[in-house]
Amino acid sequence: AENSIVVVGSCMIDFVSYAPRLPQEGETIHGTKFVTNFGGKGANQCVAAAKLGGNTTLIARVGDDIWADKYIDNLKACKVNTKYMEKTEGYASGVAQITVSADGANQIVIVAGANSKLCPDDVRRSEQAIKNAAVLVCQLETCAEVAIESMQLCGGVTILNGAPAVSQYDMRLLTTPKIFCVNESEASIFSGVEVKNINDGKEAIEALLLKGCNSVILTLGSEGALYSCKADPNNFVYVKCPKVKCVDSTGAGDSFIGALAYLLANKKDLSMEKCLEQACTVASDSVTKPGTQISFPGPEILLKL
Ligand code: RIB
Ligand code: NA
Repeated sequence: AENSIVVVGSCMIDFVSYAPRLPQEGETIHGTKFVTNFGGKGANQCVAAAKLGGNTTLIARVGDDIWADKYIDNLKACKVNTKYMEKTEGYASGVAQITVSADGANQIVIVAGANSKLCPDDVRRSEQAIKNAAVLVCQLETCAEVAIESMQLCGGVTILNGAPAVSQYDMRLLTTPKIFCVNESEASIFSGVEVKNINDGKEAIEALLLKGCNSVILTLGSEGALYSCKADPNNFVYVKCPKVKCVDSTGAGDSFIGALAYLLANKKDLSMEKCLEQACTVASDSVTKPGTQISFPGPEILLKL
């Protein structure tokens, strides 16, 4: 459909411990609460768009364990099209071990499991959906080749979230997507420019455009987001985030990207500045509640704008 959003990427089961602070190396500390949630960057971004009212499809793999059906049921409950979801024999579903501190910061280790089996054949069996997507979103919790082939097939707007970042990579990760979207630490790894503030951010974006990106969005946590493109590299769009009380920043970047995908698919006349502003509002709202998908707002958030 003309507004379809297709996400090719990961599903993880998040094992989340809340603690007063993040532990140091070699240290054991007492946490205060433990929960399991549905997560993974691919699914999170897809669900973020679905909850805003987007017409979404997720192309991903779960394992053949007790989480597989539960995960697919969760996607259905979020109104995501699960036609292309696959179970993977002999593999566990992906898991993420997450610690969240009292100030909402996090530390994450992922074990990809079945996500590592998402492959170019999965892209081919989903070819129709990918080709016709208005917006395609990929990340790097599944293999880079899958992201590159999907983006090459798609006739619509392609977004690559370069997360988690890698220092050795195929240059097509930068040159293929219409929009390359990263946070500060990912931008530092991909560009070689350490990003600590907005000025470094501009330098990192310049470096990424020189390396061949078509356009770059750099998310700056509570500081907002910065954008520039190849066609006009000296012109930066910068938007601030609404100030909120952060209880859990996990998945904020995913809600930003899901919102961006929703806006690009459904509000085609919106300027990039307005898109970033609205996506920042969605992401800011998500950090005021614990968890990832369960904390993402519905369409009412956009009515206020
Ligand atoms: O971006 C947040 C996500 O990263 C979590 O849901 C976790 O699954 C990891 O993939
Ligand atoms: Na949240």
